[in-house]
Amino acid sequence: MILSASSLIRLEDVRAANQQAWYQAYLAGLDERIEPLVDRVAAAGYDTFVVTADVPVPPNRENNIRNGFQVPLEITPRVFWDTITHPDWLLNTWARTVFNHGMPHFENMDAKRGPPVLSKNLMRNIGSRDQLAWKHVELIRKRWRGKLVVKGLISPEDARLAREHGCDGVMVSNHGGRQLDYTVSGLRTLPEIAAQKGSMTVMMDGGIRRGTDVIKALALGADFVWIGRPFLYGAVVAGEAGVARAISLLHAEIDRDLALLGIRSLKEITADLVRKY
Ligand SMILES: Cc1cc2nc3c(=O)[nH]c(=O)nc-3n(C[C@H](O)[C@H](O)[C@H](O)COP(=O)(O)O)c2cc1C
Repeated sequence: MILSASSLIRLEDVRAANQQAWYQAYLAGLDERIEPLVDRVAAAGYDTFVVTADVPVPPNRENNIRNGFQVPLEITPRVFWDTITHPDWLLNTWARTVFNHGMPHFENMDAKRGPPVLSKNLMRNIGSRDQLAWKHVELIRKRWRGKLVVKGLISPEDARLAREHGCDGVMVSNHGGRQLDYTVSGLRTLPEIAAQKGSMTVMMDGGIRRGTDVIKALALGADFVWIGRPFLYGAVVAGEAGVARAISLLHAEIDRDLALLGIRSLKEITADLVRKY
């Protein structure tokens, strides 16, 4: 289980329900906020601490503006209308959450519970991420005894720095292309990053939709891949069963694609399966 800092569920509760747990941080670049957070995550018994590095400032998501979604959440006429015309969501998601846990808060941005999602101070509280620097990775490395991963790297130079700062792994990612227009895709720089890996694990995400996408990433140097939106879409359509269905589709595709490539297992995937024209 990997838990995001922006989750509304307390990280301690997630850890209790899972054998293996990763915590993903959105860090303000301030030592006095990072140190107590690292201590809280360690005390909760997490295995891996992930620092997301590619969201230093909020992106300009025009689709969110068009759809009337904003942070902090504001009850506009459109949000109000959407809410009352989705009674299932209103009762089974919103009302159940408020009844069981109170008004949703960002629970895990800091050592202490963050502001409610409707708070006007929300952005001030989660701000200052543009001050985040390698010295903070160094600080975490000294304090954190578990595995340390930096997520959101695209350049081989940053992978080298991650290795030199004692990281156990990197997640090559451009945040699913949701941050910066014209960002190069992780797949393009993956071979050069893999060349910098040393003993680090190289993970990759972004645009993995088919079995062949997984195979391409592994051929180009990823040890394994992560998948974002396809599983979210599965969850939206049918909850846990929807995610299970998305996993099984992908599993069947990988299995079939390996056979069509004439190989029997992931271990037999080699770089020469990919042609660059
Ligand atoms: C709705 C949504 C929320 C996300 N939230 C986070 C987050 O809190 N932390 C993070 O590191 N990445 C976050 N991401 C980025 C994903 O971790 C991942 O890098 C990206 O979705 C991968 O691309 P894909 O969706 O094409 O598979 C989010 C992505 C989406 C679509």
